[in-house]
Amino acid sequence: MAVAVQEKTLQITKIKEHIGAIATGVDLTQPIDEATRQQLYDAAVDHVALVIRGQQFTAKQYEQAASLFGELMEDQNRMYLADGVPLVSVLSNRNKDTKGKPAKMANNATWHTDHTNQERPPKFTCLYPVALPDSGGGTSVCNMRAAYEALPAEMRARLAPMKTENTLISSARMAAANPDIVKAQKAKNAAGEKPMIQPLIRTHPDRGSKAIWFHQSKTERVIGMEPQETQDFLTELLETAIKPEFAYTHDYQLGDMLVIDNRSAMHKAGFDFDMSQHRMIYRALVRGERPE
Ligand SMILES: [Fe+2]
Repeated sequence: MAVAVQEKTLQITKIKEHIGAIATGVDLTQPIDEATRQQLYDAAVDHVALVIRGQQFTAKQYEQAASLFGELMEDQNRMYLADGVPLVSVLSNRNKDTKGKPAKMANNATWHTDHTNQERPPKFTCLYPVALPDSGGGTSVCNMRAAYEALPAEMRARLAPMKTENTLISSARMAAANPDIVKAQKAKNAAGEKPMIQPLIRTHPDRGSKAIWFHQSKTERVIGMEPQETQDFLTELLETAIKPEFAYTHDYQLGDMLVIDNRSAMHKAGFDFDMSQHRMIYRALVRGERPE
């Protein structure tokens, strides 16, 4: 049976030179044709962050929409899931949304990419706000391939071969971390689980471009450095590499689906809002490749 495709016309508009685009004229609760799906995918890759505006999803519909970008994977933090939709997790500042557990926040407030302690971290992180504060609470995304390309050649040459060891939480960050995560990491250490080795500079499998890529609080060490030395090194690297022209802070409107290409990006959540107000975001993760 032929499926009626929607009659709206997809439009993609660039936000700024190095990062960001907005897509309008598409309703992802309805079937879309393959050419439209590919256009959205390519826009997310080309512009690093893609905002698909004007959506209205239940958690189940959101799961379906995110899966247009690839096979979804489970969030490794199983504490905060949307009811009945295990591939959609809930980022909220209200414990009632997270089943009474303290909401996960601090680790997301600094530049990072998701789940680097896994063998195949997500290629896309998709975010969709369900409740928003009056102002603030945006998500910032930085084009880390532009950031890498702008570094001096000798610095790129020094960084290019570096490898990181990734865990749930770095030993140098445990004192300030969520106690549940510390407990989970201690159990992994006791079980002898080895850290996941990842490249510090990864190559985009679709484009061949290189990008700076790490999650600082999950980085136990850059191989050859001590844990605290690693933290200091990564802080300095971020300060050097991230420039305002490479970054974009998305201040959500209800109906926005934000798709981030993690292979070219690092991101952070903004906690610059009135915490008495509600911020709740649905997150879906698209399975990625083994980083190289
Ligand atoms: Fe994140």
